[in-house]
Order: sequence, then C-alpha cells, then structure tokens
Amino acid sequence: SFSFNRRIARDVREIVSALERMLARKDALGLKELSGGGAALRDSRETTSLLEDSQVYGRNQEKEKLLKFLLSKEAEESSFRIGAIVGMGGIGKTTLAKTVFNDETVQEAFDVKAWVCVSDQFDIGRVTKSILDSITGHGSEAADLNVLQNKLRSKLMNEKFLLVLDDVWSEDYDGWQKLQAPFSAGTSGSKIIVTTRKKNVADIMRANPIYSLQP
Ligand SMILES: Nc1ncnc2c1ncn2[C@@H]1O[C@H](COP(=O)(O)OP(=O)(O)OP(=O)(O)O)[C@@H](O)[C@H]1O
Ligand SMILES: [Mg+2]
Repeated sequence: SFSFNRRIARDVREIVSALERMLARKDALGLKELSGGGAALRDSRETTSLLEDSQVYGRNQEKEKLLKFLLSKEAEESSFRIGAIVGMGGIGKTTLAKTVFNDETVQEAFDVKAWVCVSDQFDIGRVTKSILDSITGHGSEAADLNVLQNKLRSKLMNEKFLLVLDDVWSEDYDGWQKLQAPFSAGTSGSKIIVTTRKKNVADIMRANPIYSLQP
C-alpha cells in the first residue's frame, strides 16, 4: 500500500507538471481564455415559461397540490405567498413549474404573470428588471434600482400576480427581502413559486408550502 501511494503521488506530480508545461505554452499555441464564459454557461441553463413539445409524464399529484395552492385565497393581511419546488438537479422542478404556469385555470386566475430564470447570478437589479420586462413584454430602459422598483410596484399595484423564480441558488436573505419590496403592492391571492435544488434557499425565502420532488 505504501508503494501504491508513492506511485499515485508520482503520477499526480507528473500530471501537474504536464499541465504546467501546457499552461506555459498556452500563448505559443494561440489558446485564449474565453471571456464571459459564465454568461455562455448561464445561457444554456436559461429557462423560459414555454412548454417544449415533448410530453410531460406523471407528477399529477404534485401538479394538483400546486394548483390548489396557486388558486387558494388568502386572508386579507398577506398580499402574497411563496411556494417552493425543491429537489435534485434534473428531477423536473422547472417542468412542473411550467406545467402549472401554463395551466388554463392559472392563466385565468391571475392578472399579471412573470417568469424569471434566476440561476446562479442573483442580482436584485437584474431580477427586478427581468420581472418588469416579463410583465410589460418589452425591455425597459431604466438601470437604477430605485426607478425599477417603483415601476414594478406600479405594475403590480392592486393586481393579482403570479411570479415564478426559476433555479434559485442565492441564500442572501437581505437580498431577497429587498427584492420583495415592490411585491406587497399586489392584491391578496398573489403567489410566488421558487424552484431550487437547495432546501435551505426555500427556508431562507420563507417558502410555505415546500414541495419536495422525489425520483
Ligand atoms: N414529468 C416529466 N415528464 C417528462 N419529462 C420530464 C418530466 N419532468 C422533467 N422532464 C425532463 O427532464 C429534464 C429535466 O427536467 P427539469 O429541467 O424540469 O429539471 P430541474 O429539476 O428543473 O433541474 P435543474 O435543477 O437542473 O434546474 C428535462 O429535459 C425535462 O423535459
Ligand atoms: Mg430547473
């Protein structure tokens, strides 16, 4: 076992020095680091509210529960409620969210609907702008968060809204509180659905109910 470990250590050293040699020749070989690699990655993960043509199977129970939550009325004091879909990657969180988002009864039940793919770059300004653009159907000019939040607030004023925040990773509690500031303008019965792989994110966002998807 000792000699095995030594052999592994020697192999690793050789691999590391081979990588170092390649790195040194990077410029000579004309290899360039891709700038904005993060953005390219983000695009491939970006989701939309549109259901793709492929069939959706099963998940009927989960769908019914989610629909019941979405169509439920609220006590007057709370203007909106947050529900979360939690589960491991590829389990079907986004697909389930799309299915209910596009359901006919849901279409009719809400005045304003928005779908925002949050992913790993949680930026209040960007998310607020995305919500606003999703509602208005066109890009907005404003870059200032104060202006964006005021615009969003007036769009949501006395409206029953449904917002899907897809693929959330951020555990920034203060950020979420700040993002939610314009949402209280909506009428009771408004809903937010969050999809995330992390139960902790759902807890931090004070999501209730939480639907955890099992294989
Ligand atoms: N009920 C279903 N019937 C058929 N295909 C499904 C179903 N649910 C998910 N899929 C397919 O499985 C793949 C992954 O689903 P989806 O993107 O919804 O997972 P996810 O939980 O959102 O993953 P991630 O954590 O990476 O965002 C997709 O190609 C989707 O079309
Ligand atoms: Mg997803």
